[in-house]
Amino acid sequence: MKKVEAIVRPERLEELREALDSKGFSGMTITEVKGRGVQRGITLEWRVGDYRVEFMPKIKIEMVLNDTDVNEVVDIIQKTCATGNIGDGKIFVYPIEQVVKIRTKENGTKAI
Ligand SMILES: Nc1ncnc2c1ncn2[C@@H]1O[C@H](COP(=O)(O)OP(=O)(O)OP(=O)(O)O)[C@@H](O)[C@H]1O
Ligand SMILES: [Mg+2]
Repeated sequence: MKKVEAIVRPERLEELREALDSKGFSGMTITEVKGRGVQRGITLEWRVGDYRVEFMPKIKIEMVLNDTDVNEVVDIIQKTCATGNIGDGKIFVYPIEQVVKIRTKENGTKAI
């Protein structure tokens, strides 16, 4: 089992949810986060002067998956969330030790 964690643009979330749903991927956790990458923040130029934003609003999506589903999900996220501009985000994949479904006490891949 693996966890796919993606940091994406908030405006792509709805399209991403639909794309994942249509392929049968329903379980996920999302969090509103702030972050920065290579370019750090951005400088907004106002008439009254410059205003520095050090952390940009992003959405973090976490999905625990069977190993065999990881490539498909990574591909869906990459395709749906790419604009080609800086700040499109990143996808991280982690190993997962165990999953327990609280209602049924099932564990492992049956609990995903
Ligand atoms: N190395 C990292 N570790 C953890 N989070 C990161 C890392 N790089 C980026 N992020 C997260 O992803 C968000 C988007 O990053 P971003 O797409 O700007 O990365 P980048 O490396 O600067 O790529 P690009 O040059 O395309 O902008 C950041 O706001 C941050 O939340
Ligand atoms: Mg960047």
